[in-house]
Amino acid sequence: MSNTYQSKLVSLLSSDLDFHSSSSREFTHDLHAFPAKFPPQLPRKFIDGLTQPGDVVLDPMVGSGTTLLEAVLAGRCAVGFDIDPLALRLCNAKTTSVSPLQAAQAGLMMLRKAKSAVYEQNEGLQAELARRFDAKTQEFVDYWFAPEAQIELLALLKQIEVLQEDGVRSFLELAFSSVIITKSGGVSLALDLAHTRPHRAKDKPYRSPIKEFEKRLKQNLTSLAALPAARPLVVLGCGDAQSLPLKSGSVDLVVTSPPYPANAIDYMRAHKFSLVWMGYPIDILSQYRKRYIGSEALDGTKTEELPSTTAGVIQAIAARDRGKGAGLRRYYSEMARVLGEMIRVIRPGRAAIVVVGSSVIRGIDTRTYDCLAEIGQQVGFEIAHIGVRNLDRDRRMMPARRGHERNSQIENRMHREYVIGFYKPGGPQ
Ligand SMILES: C[S@@+](CC[C@H](N)C(=O)[O-])C[C@H]1O[C@@H](n2cnc3c(N)ncnc32)[C@H](O)[C@@H]1O
Repeated sequence: MSNTYQSKLVSLLSSDLDFHSSSSREFTHDLHAFPAKFPPQLPRKFIDGLTQPGDVVLDPMVGSGTTLLEAVLAGRCAVGFDIDPLALRLCNAKTTSVSPLQAAQAGLMMLRKAKSAVYEQNEGLQAELARRFDAKTQEFVDYWFAPEAQIELLALLKQIEVLQEDGVRSFLELAFSSVIITKSGGVSLALDLAHTRPHRAKDKPYRSPIKEFEKRLKQNLTSLAALPAARPLVVLGCGDAQSLPLKSGSVDLVVTSPPYPANAIDYMRAHKFSLVWMGYPIDILSQYRKRYIGSEALDGTKTEELPSTTAGVIQAIAARDRGKGAGLRRYYSEMARVLGEMIRVIRPGRAAIVVVGSSVIRGIDTRTYDCLAEIGQQVGFEIAHIGVRNLDRDRRMMPARRGHERNSQIENRMHREYVIGFYKPGGPQ
């Protein structure tokens, strides 16, 4: 590594990346639960160390928008994409500067009206519920939400839908969603919603959506008040990281984390619990699910020529389970296209920081960081260094462990994440 930028990059990647003693609840970072989100200190470290005010920072898979919010707070231009409708709403609400006073007034008014609607217009709400969803979505809603919870949720939602101001509306919509999507399954009948396959618990004690919303609103208003009022420079779009609508050489830094291989975190499984309330039919959401990087759907997917170590891992897994091998080939092919787009849009002499974990498929480690580093080199990146992060499982929502893998070497490796520093050669020395 010759120039100052590269030495800085290596030194940042070699420094402490665990951040166990730091809070991840600063500013609006905790507006809503999101599985496997970064601690804010992680993108902050690279944004502060590798860019200047006014530079463009990209996250092509924004998730909850940790990188974008950190870029905005540091006075950088933040650019982000995702295909998940809830991630986009969350990221938008998190980075939009809204007047806390206006949000508080609208939230309190909305609560008052929703409470009185539950008592005074109960029949009308019931009639509207019967019309609101298509048959399949209705079946889903009836299975996962108690009848009284449905009434309260609709009463809240109707108040949100009439709000005129976009920023306030998306802030309150997020508070609404965050009473549904929680680790414990929130106000639905689901258990462990954000973590594993949801289980329905008929005897789960009733949690009133209106009361939960009231608590959440207070908490989110406190977070909002901590956000500086300056007008942020954010470009956020619904877009596929494999084909970015950006000019070549237009980005100064990428900080991102792709999904885990083998669909280890199924975002849509939890997100649909909120999205059905926001007008998405369940069938449409099932179609969305197939488009996620790492999804197990194989129809119509295009594979790429992959380098030898990656091809070897795929082959070993395919020898045990052909379908899983094909799924992993899809994942690495998609990531080859994502890395190809990253090297195209980054300026020469600049870096992409990609945070990944490994998955275990049929007892074999997917070696995600080795494979992505190898694929990155194939598309023209140099690997500056690969940093290691030890995960604090109690604080971060991670894929569930499988019983038989506990205490194994592989399980230990799954407590770690790898921070790959991809460097695009060229540019001024
Ligand atoms: C690990 S999460 C990102 C978490 C993020 N770093 C944070 O701090 O919240 C991965 C994200 O990739 C998104 N994703 C999956 N496939 C995608 C695609 N083809 N294009 C863009 N984003 C995609 C998922 O919707 C998810 O939000």
